[in-house]
Amino acid sequence: MTVFRNKRLRRLRINENIRNLVQEVRLTTNDLVCPVFVQEGLTERTPVDSMPAIERLPLSEISNEIQNISDLKIPAVMLFGIPSQKDETGTSAFLEEGIVQKAISEVKSNFGDKIVIMADVCLCQYTTSGHCGIVKDNKIDNDLSIETLTKIAVSQAKAGVHVVSPSAMMDGQVSAIRKGLDEADFKDVSIMSHSAKHSSSFYSPFRDAAECTPQFGDRKTYQVPFTNPQEAMREVATDIEEGVDIVMIKPALSYLDLIAETKRRFNVPVSAYSVSGEYAMVKAAASQGWIKEDEITNEILHSIKRAGADMIVTYFAKSCARLIQDNS
Ligand code: PBG
Repeated sequence: MTVFRNKRLRRLRINENIRNLVQEVRLTTNDLVCPVFVQEGLTERTPVDSMPAIERLPLSEISNEIQNISDLKIPAVMLFGIPSQKDETGTSAFLEEGIVQKAISEVKSNFGDKIVIMADVCLCQYTTSGHCGIVKDNKIDNDLSIETLTKIAVSQAKAGVHVVSPSAMMDGQVSAIRKGLDEADFKDVSIMSHSAKHSSSFYSPFRDAAECTPQFGDRKTYQVPFTNPQEAMREVATDIEEGVDIVMIKPALSYLDLIAETKRRFNVPVSAYSVSGEYAMVKAAASQGWIKEDEITNEILHSIKRAGADMIVTYFAKSCARLIQDNS
């Protein structure tokens, strides 16, 4: 019996070619930023237990790793340094001979503009307190901290970084860093701020990887509460007023609403950081055979793009780029 239906949405799903033609959201390697950990004093690649397939690298391995990432056509890396010395004020974060500065110079001299070099600007790996700012009288001193964050950004710019990525969530960090960079004549160094970085339990595997667990208290006095979407939007708006180039929402998967809202409200590039806990959950379930890692990863990263992210910082960058290459 013929039934007349003018709406048959399944028509555009009848075969793969048609589905490809009408695909709305596409993930490409150009969407990916690959995080890289480099540790001072290390002699060989060292796995991170809570993040299978992720390693901390000695400086001697950095160029090999960047070559691998660049061969996969990933356009950018985000460097995190782990110093051998910590002190109260995080001095090792802005030394000319600091681990991240050395890594940046090495990558810049070997790759030039072939890959975008981004670097984390924060204090928690470098302070004995494990906090993202400088502790004074048992409190995180905002204005003292942004002076140091500015020194870190300028030292990274001197080493050749393309994009600095402040993640400390101190008030005024973007304008202070912009001013510092401009005064030191680094007008072309961009700022990708962790604008709405939430106080989240999704960061714990990273804290193992980067040795930056707070030694007292928590990060609730500076990171955004996950209950406050309006406040997250105020953080984004403030960073834009302060001259940020790219804003970031972090974490990604539980925060897709905020990625979408940021894209809808503001006319700036939006990045999403799919953090260590998101990665670890997928890896753990996949290792049990409970989910299919590649399919889940593909779906998660597409959902982050669908929400509105222009780029995704993800520990799946390399595996995802391999999948994209195999399927194209
Ligand atoms: C440090 C920093 C953290 C992350 C990125 N930069 C940890 C934190 O705030 O405790 C987390 C990234 C991840 O979990 O992948 N400021």
